[in-house]
Amino acid sequence: MSRRRLLAGGAVAGLGAVAAVAATGDPAAGPAAASAPLDPGTATVPFHGPRQAGVAEDPPAHAAFVAFTLAAGTDKRGLARMLRLLTDDAARLTQGVAALGDTDATLAVLPARLTVTFGFGPGLYRAAGLRSPVADLPPFRIDRLQTRWSGGDLLLQICADDPLTVAHTQRMLIKDARPFAAVRWVQQGFRRSPGMQAPEHTQRNVLGQLDGTANPRGPEIEPAVWNPDGSTTLVVRRVRAEIEKWDLLAVTDKENATGRRLESGAPLSGSQEHDEPDFTALDDAGLPRMPDFSHVTRARVTDPALKILRRPYNYDGVPNALGHPDAGLIFAAYQRDIARQFVPIQQRLADRDLLNEWITPIGSAVFAVPPGCAEGGWIGERVLT
Ligand code: HEM
Repeated sequence: MSRRRLLAGGAVAGLGAVAAVAATGDPAAGPAAASAPLDPGTATVPFHGPRQAGVAEDPPAHAAFVAFTLAAGTDKRGLARMLRLLTDDAARLTQGVAALGDTDATLAVLPARLTVTFGFGPGLYRAAGLRSPVADLPPFRIDRLQTRWSGGDLLLQICADDPLTVAHTQRMLIKDARPFAAVRWVQQGFRRSPGMQAPEHTQRNVLGQLDGTANPRGPEIEPAVWNPDGSTTLVVRRVRAEIEKWDLLAVTDKENATGRRLESGAPLSGSQEHDEPDFTALDDAGLPRMPDFSHVTRARVTDPALKILRRPYNYDGVPNALGHPDAGLIFAAYQRDIARQFVPIQQRLADRDLLNEWITPIGSAVFAVPPGCAEGGWIGERVLT
């Protein structure tokens, strides 16, 4: 352990004292380190606490969502063993310290705001002989779900501002999960690189839209996302965007489908991005300025306890033989209760959303996100003991 620390600390010595503190995982570097203006490579997000990291923070630029299928016979005791191991890895790696048995310890020294968030699918509860707090989503008529992007007993959401950090973390965690679970699917996504825009700036997605404007922020996240025990839930939907068709639209058609201006993100009833949409406003022809079937009109929720926290990542794979992009969103949404919050929104969008013409859900998975843990504890301890 001390050799590993030495290695981790030594490798970043050139980056200065602040970096070394973050890289050695000094507990004093805890919450302060997350807010301090650190070099993007050495910035850390605290791992321990009553709630898991990787939910409410500003999303880092890169993500891998790794879903596992439990090996037959993995029971409650096996799960506890696996989760102790994975928690230990995540606690170290997020603080820039190599995992035990890490064969490439030099890759652990730049955590770049690394978070590892654990999600438990219905199958994990079944394996443990427990009742699952989450159930698969009902089918929606827009769904074209593929098994290779759907389901999962365990999810690790790995996020960092650097893709090599994500890759290394993914490799370490999969290695240690191997005796208990096999990889079911991996979805890798990206957002803007760090330093491109101020963190509070809304990002554009692969369709060119400002995405995230109406998301709960600051204290609004509390009633929407966190249960009193520190748990939450996660829905991951892989939504393909038919960009080659979207590209054929005029700007006004794209704006009507969304209900917001492309350039500014303002609602069609207003002029600034954060203007409240006015669903009663009419244009000169007497038609609603916010089209009845625009994405925003259909998705709108006003009750703060019924909102969802969207944390989407773009994906952009290999184009097909015609050169059409394989792109879209890994649409990740956090909420207290999937059935009360997510499902009604998805149902309204499935029933009638102009955007459906250009987007198709091709993957779907649900996970309970258990509370965080204190130092020495492990994720899932309150569920499995
Ligand atoms: C490729 C898929 C999707 C794209 C491109 C997309 C795009 C957008 C855009 C551009 C906005 C307006 C700006 C904002 O507030 O972020 C928005 C809002 C929103 N979207 Fe989506 N979205 C997608 C899928 C979904 C899904 C699957 C859901 C939930 C089931 C959803 C729920 C919402 C909600 C709740 C809002 C905020 C509405 C409001 O209160 O103003 N979206 N989306």
